[in-house]
Amino acid sequence: MVLGLSGGIACYKTAELCRALVKAGASVQVVMTEAAEHFMTAVTLQALSGRPVYTSQWDAREANNMAHINLSREADALVVAPASADFMAKLLHGRADDLLSLMCLARPLDSVPLIVAPAMNREMWANPATQRNVAQLKADGVHVLDVGQGDQACGETGDGRMLEADEILEDLQAFFTPPVLRGRHVLVTAGPTYEAIDPVRGITNLSSGKMGFAIARAARMAGAQVSLVAGPVSLPTPRGVQRVAVRSAQEMLQAVQAQVDSVDVFIACAAVADWRPAASADQKIKKDGTGQTPQLHFVENPDILATVAQSPRAQSGALYCVGFAAESHDLLAHATAKRARKQVPLLVGNIGPSTFGQDDNALLLVDAQGATELPRASKLDLADDLIAEIARRR
Ligand code: C5P
Repeated sequence: MVLGLSGGIACYKTAELCRALVKAGASVQVVMTEAAEHFMTAVTLQALSGRPVYTSQWDAREANNMAHINLSREADALVVAPASADFMAKLLHGRADDLLSLMCLARPLDSVPLIVAPAMNREMWANPATQRNVAQLKADGVHVLDVGQGDQACGETGDGRMLEADEILEDLQAFFTPPVLRGRHVLVTAGPTYEAIDPVRGITNLSSGKMGFAIARAARMAGAQVSLVAGPVSLPTPRGVQRVAVRSAQEMLQAVQAQVDSVDVFIACAAVADWRPAASADQKIKKDGTGQTPQLHFVENPDILATVAQSPRAQSGALYCVGFAAESHDLLAHATAKRARKQVPLLVGNIGPSTFGQDDNALLLVDAQGATELPRASKLDLADDLIAEIARRR
């Protein structure tokens, strides 16, 4: 892809973006405007991209002397980050007095998308001229990424920061992901639950939440509106996903029930505690020095997945439910039995001890047609494949 930089202090983030794109497997051709070169040297971006940087439309390296044509025809996309207020105003008017704007104008409209990541001071961003330009660029088919919010290099605080490199990378990946769940609302549960014994102690489990968070991310990439009900884990919320933080199984059930009537797909990935202490003490249970140990009594937690799967919408097929099974052996037999017991169309089996806390996993999908293996891979990749499988069945 072509990575274009116009002038702005956010150029420093583009160095990291360039590296992240290369790491993700993209071939990156950097093009800089003269203004960008005041903020970042071409040497830095050449080193990070592994290719000489283009800065001038008069560059004689191209045999036909038409870098704007050659580079824009080879690219899968033109990404301008940062896109300054001035550069967007230029794009809007179809002006082409430097290599980058020339390329944007010369790109084949149908096959080479133009994606811009705006970056500017909050007053510049809020200015009606900029907002008018952004609206018109969108109407012209340019994909304008959001801006970030917060402290700005100028010392002011507000909207207009360029997104961070990892956020832009995620938005770019979403842009290129087939939108197989566009228009769908997906609800995912993830992580462990925590069942309080007293205000400072509780019972939980080793679920890291990584698989469920990866699934929420993959569903959003595939175009879905995604809600993630998560037990206590410190993972960052995937971009564009609405997270509801809960602790206990009962709280998780409540949060799920508050949303489930409007969702199309429910994926129960959380490791929900089967039991909770019958009573949680209001105050910390103290050692009294007699050597006596407290007696804990348990009651069964609600089965969130089974509850949802029995609802009329799930039974009629309007809501597609996906369950998980973490087993230690006989995965196929246990997953098949659990699918029947929970009355869900799709049950995803995995081996608990070899997935908890890991970054990779292997999945066994069991549905009415039989079993499909998704071999060991990163949880991010498996989540993409699982979402594609769900979309196919939905
Ligand atoms: O019965 P078991 O815990 O093995 O079932 C696992 C599946 O059921 C997972 O999808 C899990 O998220 C879900 N589950 C639930 N509520 C429970 C227990 C399990 O939603 N109380």
